[in-house]
Amino acid sequence: MVSRVIPVDPFDLVVFGASGDLAQRKILPGLFHRFVVGQMPKQARIIGVARRKMDHAAFRAQVATSIATFAPASLKQQDLVAAFLERLSYVTVDATGESGWASLAEHLRDDVVRAFYLSVSPSLFGAIAQNLQTYGVATPTSRIVVEKPFGHDLKSAQALNADLRRSFEERQIYRIDHYLGKETVQNLMALRFANALWEPLWNATHVDHVQITVAESLGVEGRGEYYDRSGAMRDMVQNHLMQLLCLTAMEPPSRFTPNAVRDEKVKVIEALEPVPQSDIVRGQYRSRGDEGSYLDHAGDPHSRTESFVAMKVNIANWRWSGTPFYLRTGKKLRARSSEIAVVFRDPPHMIFPQMSGRRGNALIIKLQPDEGITLRNTIKEPGPGGFRLAEVNLDMTFADALEQGADAPDAYERLIMDVIRGDQTLFMRGDEVEAAWAWVDPIVEGWEDARATPAGYDPGGSGPDDALMLLHRDGRRWRELN
Ligand code: BG6
Repeated sequence: MVSRVIPVDPFDLVVFGASGDLAQRKILPGLFHRFVVGQMPKQARIIGVARRKMDHAAFRAQVATSIATFAPASLKQQDLVAAFLERLSYVTVDATGESGWASLAEHLRDDVVRAFYLSVSPSLFGAIAQNLQTYGVATPTSRIVVEKPFGHDLKSAQALNADLRRSFEERQIYRIDHYLGKETVQNLMALRFANALWEPLWNATHVDHVQITVAESLGVEGRGEYYDRSGAMRDMVQNHLMQLLCLTAMEPPSRFTPNAVRDEKVKVIEALEPVPQSDIVRGQYRSRGDEGSYLDHAGDPHSRTESFVAMKVNIANWRWSGTPFYLRTGKKLRARSSEIAVVFRDPPHMIFPQMSGRRGNALIIKLQPDEGITLRNTIKEPGPGGFRLAEVNLDMTFADALEQGADAPDAYERLIMDVIRGDQTLFMRGDEVEAAWAWVDPIVEGWEDARATPAGYDPGGSGPDDALMLLHRDGRRWRELN
């Protein structure tokens, strides 16, 4: 089953911060991919915008270098690259000043979708949004796309929302969380709501607990300064892990529409219980061999920022009361491995005493690497020697099952195409972001007030020992990271 590519409507996509890291590494090579597979119609154009003076040719040369560096080798045919670059142009604009806005307005066409991607510091969101209106660049159907970090806490997120809403309506605002563009994350909705099999089991009666892991093998390296102001809780849990939790825990929406889905996600966040400090473990990686420690990269030798966090989260509603969700994420761990594991309870009456307490059934939704689904079952070991039981996996790797070829978009590509289609399902609504911060703030304030120091952990492992205890004390254990 090779994926079908359906072209989107013609568009003018304006990328603010077009020379920046995200634009050059992800957005522009990603758009090139969409162009190669035929999803970008002939009349689609991409307009790079930044303060630096540059002509069209220089911008195209810059993007040609990004494509050479970041696009898959199989796509880099010279004629395709040249044809793509023809769609690109550049306008110099002073985001907070007056210059360049009139030229930008003139440069855009009236009869195509208009989208503005703000790949810039959040401190510029308000000024750019306002100038887009003041200079008549935006129209009532234009879309504006913003990136994380969407705030640092509830107050700053509210201020950003207010800034954007002064100039755009919520239906025009697309807040990106790139985890929502990952194939398996979307598949979670298909799995849950397109199959009759799971829904009867998807609750506290049958699910013992859920583990959500987003483990990274890389450290903070060159991003130390940004990261040190955030930490794992703000950088990963408030957004990516929260999205995974919501999609796993939410009620079935009555329709597959952006607001029906997002309403259900908000309800999950609002049902999260406050987490006591005793249910949270924070860690910070040490050095190993020649590799520096977190502190070496943080820019502050006394930093108390966490590069790892594990926590037990309870959802106070009918579906989940009594079934904890354990979350963990961290840098410099054994493997880059992200998954959601739904671990089922033992059968109500176990006639095989040796399997008692083993929780032999689990559904594992693997996000990366090797996206796919695994169902762990208990079977009889074949052969003589008595009635022995073993746990085996029913594995489905999407790449094999669906023959996903090079056409499959990466998360950013998919989300940008959704912006052009005008589909907000996979974007965070303003109230969703604020609800997530309202839950995170007291947790972070708690350890900031206590001046708590994170536990050290060795790179290449599975985090601090205390994280193992978080489950051990409940008679459970984390799945291996691999
Ligand atoms: C980003 C975080 O949002 O997500 C990074 O800021 C993190 O710290 C990254 O490394 C992880 O994304 P992915 O897609 O590589 O899992």
